[in-house]
Amino acid sequence: MNIVVLRETLSGEARVALMPESVKKLVALQVSVFVESGAGLGAARTDDDYREAGAQVSEDRKALLESAAVLVTVNRPSTEEFAQLKSDAVVLGFLRPLDEPTALEPALARGLTTFAMELIPRITRAQAMDALSSMATVVGYKAVLIGASQIPRMFPLLMTAAGTVPPARVLVLGAGVAGLQAIATARRLGAVVEAYDVRAAAGEQVRSLGAIFLEVDLGGLKTEDAGGYAVELSEEAMARGRDLIAEHAATADLVITTAQVPGRRAPLLVTEAAVNGMRRGAIIIDLAGSTGGNCALSEPDQTVERNGVTILAPTNLAATVPVHASQLYSRNVTSFLSLLIREGELNIDLNDDVVGPSCVTHAGQVVNSRVAAALAMP
Ligand code: NAI
Repeated sequence: MNIVVLRETLSGEARVALMPESVKKLVALQVSVFVESGAGLGAARTDDDYREAGAQVSEDRKALLESAAVLVTVNRPSTEEFAQLKSDAVVLGFLRPLDEPTALEPALARGLTTFAMELIPRITRAQAMDALSSMATVVGYKAVLIGASQIPRMFPLLMTAAGTVPPARVLVLGAGVAGLQAIATARRLGAVVEAYDVRAAAGEQVRSLGAIFLEVDLGGLKTEDAGGYAVELSEEAMARGRDLIAEHAATADLVITTAQVPGRRAPLLVTEAAVNGMRRGAIIIDLAGSTGGNCALSEPDQTVERNGVTILAPTNLAATVPVHASQLYSRNVTSFLSLLIREGELNIDLNDDVVGPSCVTHAGQVVNSRVAAALAMP
């Protein structure tokens, strides 16, 4: 059985789906790994590194696609690429099944078996496969560094002969994986950090990192589902959160927003009025830009200026830390692949409690019920 890794073609993408260290592990499972020439360069890995790990390197992208038993990607393949795969091929990657379900219709029509890294359930057994957490960790960290380098102030409290420099103030909205990493990074740089999340459980985690948790009275509303994810809130509850956010954004030098509700538009947390109330020189980094943004003025991958406040909404920050992002992703992917391989052959058990829920399409059917529901919508 052969596993194929192609060079990612999305603009700005520097990650690679498998790093050489993972190739070694897969080869030990008696499968062959084929890598497109140059696939690892963005992540500082050469063709020779892959050959040494036991992969075969090829320049012929088309032949690789046509021969793949399993295609492992970072980003979703194009419609043309889906069409070039064998009809019994397996595709694994960030396929965006809930945000852009219709883009998977070509894979469905072709009869491909597709697995989305986003759908891997967050159960203990699948922790090593949690690519969303891996990328969120990288993104939360990098956002703080971008903010720290762009605000017109320093982060730490400094006592100097010329007087005291007060610490920067950072506000983090959404204290999931990315938010907690942003808090930890900002704290290490010496900032005073405040954070807000609708899940009460986030409060303890925020405080354990030395940040202040902003609490809002949501009147006992249910804010999370059984899986620990936030749910969409009523307009009244959202309004209370926004007022509190506007009040604290007014004194922040850097606001990092990470709030997401799976399968929905990102919640709007920072209103235009809140931006207008912010200090000149402050920066908002909206990490929810790809699902609509948490700030009313965000434009995906654009820099927006408003009264001296800069709003950034980078949609692929993980690609700007390609070595570690690829390393983590590659390990996540390899852990998942090991569930599909038995004695060097493909062995897909859709009854498995990790494999089944991660499957989007199989044999011409949409397997995942959330994706099926999303496809039924206009
Ligand atoms: P996410 O990326 O879906 O959302 C980020 C954060 O935004 C979440 O903390 C969410 O509560 C918050 N949020 C949503 N709506 C909001 C609103 N209106 N106002 C303020 N905040 C809002 O979340 P992520 O980072 O993927 O993690 C979600 C949950 O999953 C967390 O409880 C996390 O601890 C848990 N988790 C569990 C794992 C496991 O058990 N293996 C692994 C990773 C995460």
